[in-house]
Amino acid sequence: MPNLKTDMDSSKNIIPHLHLVSHSERVLKNQHHEKLIWFTGLSGSGKSTLANQLERYLFDKGCSTYILDGDNIRSGLNSDLDFSDTGRKENIRRIAEASNLFLDAGLIVLTAFISPFADDRNQARKLVGSHNFIEVFVDCSLAECERRDVKGLYGKARAGLIKNFTGIDSPFEKPQNPDIVINTEKNHIDGCMRKLINELPTSLFLSK
Ligand code: ADX
Repeated sequence: MPNLKTDMDSSKNIIPHLHLVSHSERVLKNQHHEKLIWFTGLSGSGKSTLANQLERYLFDKGCSTYILDGDNIRSGLNSDLDFSDTGRKENIRRIAEASNLFLDAGLIVLTAFISPFADDRNQARKLVGSHNFIEVFVDCSLAECERRDVKGLYGKARAGLIKNFTGIDSPFEKPQNPDIVINTEKNHIDGCMRKLINELPTSLFLSK
């Protein structure tokens, strides 16, 4: 069991070290600004597929990128968290903090998590700064996600074998004002990618 901090006063003994490589040097080297591209949507809506295709596109253009998604986070850093509301909240808080470090390293970070609660997504936006945060709502109805049931989890949730499943017995709060909406139900993947790339801010690139 880790030793969790109980005395908030101990924070005053943590003194950040000044780094010899500056953030602006990293931006100049990368030739692009850091950015957090945050995909949110139901399980099976296509978040990971879109995030991976977008990373491929950006990487091939010479950008420094990294993806955080369920497989690499919930099986490692967040393997101690469940799918209760508080578990999900802590999941997103840690992902936002981890993303923030990658942003400091100058990367374009793509995250693919259900992130069902508006408040948690807004906290992530606040942490990294609104100018660094692009919320992409991967819009796909529950009926279509269930029809796809890529991982067989909706079937299990309907049978009562999985509790707190998003869309079944756990809520998903749709983004009220997302930066980009991609509907994967009405559009083929190629059309989705065209729209996504077209709607990325041009400020993403310095010269590439
Ligand atoms: S989040 O709600 O905390 O953002 P996250 O994106 O990390 O969720 O993980 C979602 C993935 O975990 C789903 O795509 C699915 O494969 C799996 N999963 C397992 N149990 C659940 C559950 N109860 N609700 C939603 N997804 C679950």
